[in-house]
Amino acid sequence: MTQPSFDTIVRNTLPQLVATSPKAELHLHIEGTLEPELIFALAQRNGVTLPYADVEALRAAYAFTDLQSFLDLYYAGCNVLRTEQDFFDLAWAYFERAAADHVVRVEPFFDPQTHTDRGIGFDVFMPGFIRAAEKAKQDLGLSCDWIMCFLRHLSEEAAFETLEASLPWRGHFIGVGLDSSEKGHPPEKFARVFARAGELGLRRVAHAGEEGPPEYVKSALDVLGAERIDHGVRSAEDPALMQRLAHEQVPLTVCPLSNVRLCVFPDLAQHNLPQLLDAGLCITVNSDDPAYFGGYVNENYLQLVHAQPQLKASHFYGMLRNSLQASFAPEADIARWQEALDVHWKAAAAH
Ligand code: HPA
Ligand code: ZN
Repeated sequence: MTQPSFDTIVRNTLPQLVATSPKAELHLHIEGTLEPELIFALAQRNGVTLPYADVEALRAAYAFTDLQSFLDLYYAGCNVLRTEQDFFDLAWAYFERAAADHVVRVEPFFDPQTHTDRGIGFDVFMPGFIRAAEKAKQDLGLSCDWIMCFLRHLSEEAAFETLEASLPWRGHFIGVGLDSSEKGHPPEKFARVFARAGELGLRRVAHAGEEGPPEYVKSALDVLGAERIDHGVRSAEDPALMQRLAHEQVPLTVCPLSNVRLCVFPDLAQHNLPQLLDAGLCITVNSDDPAYFGGYVNENYLQLVHAQPQLKASHFYGMLRNSLQASFAPEADIARWQEALDVHWKAAAAH
């Protein structure tokens, strides 16, 4: 059955409609949800001295010029995460915010090496993450499966060690990803460890085409077997790649506020998301590291509504639907969420 276009929905009702729609968040680093207030609270709890006087001073340091300038602060912030309870508190705070944004499904990334390299093992962070996700399911009805990321500025050998250390926790995450500094660290560097992850039955995703060239998007697909591309916005520089992404309907997890904060685009009005949609790509909207980039997933949608007047109601409906479709949730759950989305939008269109 074809959907109504929904373009009769008047624009000023869009923010509320989008905000209250069921949606999936597919590009979210749990360590990137560490709010300045929680950094200070955990520093106090754990006796860690911070190089900032207060929350405002820390927030003032969030003036990034590129990906690396952000990563330096993001990894430094993680230093306050020490105990299982810290990781629980981090994840639980995010889940409450996600549920408030009508997120029904989330597949958060976590970065083991950021913690194991500080002497904090899987036996510390995994129980915290697992307990928070169980509570989110129970109390908030939120569906969650974790994705373990390898840090691409480190070696493939280190990634293999991480995969090995994760095996006792194999039942508690569904896939692997690739993040951190992109330029100079092409997907090919991790070909063998991704192949091994595939043999283990893990789903595969990878950051590509955020700061790196379109070639990295191609090799993430062809060499790593990535099923989704995280960011992927620089694909627009390669017409043949754009045709392929449209033809294969490879989901791109686009993070508009992140791209602006990290200077991938000068402002939201100049973000190429409309171009990606016009080319027929499967685009989703996500928040990446919301504590650092100025907003959780609904804020990303809402700022797009305001900054990109050429985007129609049907574009937003399509991206919400894509988020559910591109998730790794069981088919029956996806069908149920999409049905709820349709009911919500048809009711709005009828007014
Ligand atoms: N890109 C690469 N690595 C990251 C990001 C990102 O946007 N966020 C957290 N780690
Ligand atoms: Zn990311």
